[in-house]
Amino acid sequence: MTGIVRPSPLPPEDATLDESALAGLGSGLKGLFITFEGLDGCGKSTQMELLAAALRERGYVVLVTREPGGTGLGESIRDLLLDPHHHGMSARAEALLYAAARAQLVEQVIRPALDDGQVVLCDRYLDSSLAYQGYGRGLGIDDIITLNVWGTKCLFPDLTLFLDLDDSIRSTRLAAVPDRLEAEDDEFHQRVAEGYRTLLTLHRHRIRRVDAQGLESDVQARVRAVIEEELALFSH
Ligand code: TYD
Repeated sequence: MTGIVRPSPLPPEDATLDESALAGLGSGLKGLFITFEGLDGCGKSTQMELLAAALRERGYVVLVTREPGGTGLGESIRDLLLDPHHHGMSARAEALLYAAARAQLVEQVIRPALDDGQVVLCDRYLDSSLAYQGYGRGLGIDDIITLNVWGTKCLFPDLTLFLDLDDSIRSTRLAAVPDRLEAEDDEFHQRVAEGYRTLLTLHRHRIRRVDAQGLESDVQARVRAVIEEELALFSH
């Protein structure tokens, strides 16, 4: 397998305490942990698969997973979370269920793969909870961070890509029957979108924005450019 050159484990000098926990420190394990974020319909899954294929061609062992889900327990929790019948779910119950699915995924899948030196690509992670539950539901990000620091035993991504796509294009890609989250009103989705923008500024050393407009291949070229710039995975 091609060796991984880790980015500097030190947080930037001007990072705040919160940022140094969440920005730039990464997983601290042998492998690399890269997460993909964005609003529903932004094309994350396709871009992740394309990146995984390119990395595998380069000789990396790549694990692709998703949230909520990726384990038997996680997929069951996913069904509960997305089922429109649970429209009365409290915001705190929702945050705890996402964190529970994540705790299981980290313990069972992500941490072992990183210990083994693999590149882990995850469709959504902690930032989804910050954007959707922290900002969207108004729970605030401090409690969500605390909950997830505990749930993941402090496992943070080395790099997060935020795929940014216009609402008008995203909305054409949404499923005909919306799940419980997609069925939320425009104000909720607006708060989530603004939440992501705030996270981009707060954690600018860890989260990189990628313009997700245009052809799949053009977006993939932008994704790889960021991966190359931050982690130099393609140049050796
Ligand atoms: P999914 O179908 O995976 O959405 P997408 O294909 O857009 O990634 O559904 C996951 C939904 O759960 C999505 O609306 C985002 C939401 N979510 C949270 O609210 N909090 C979280 O912590 C995570 C991981 C997802």
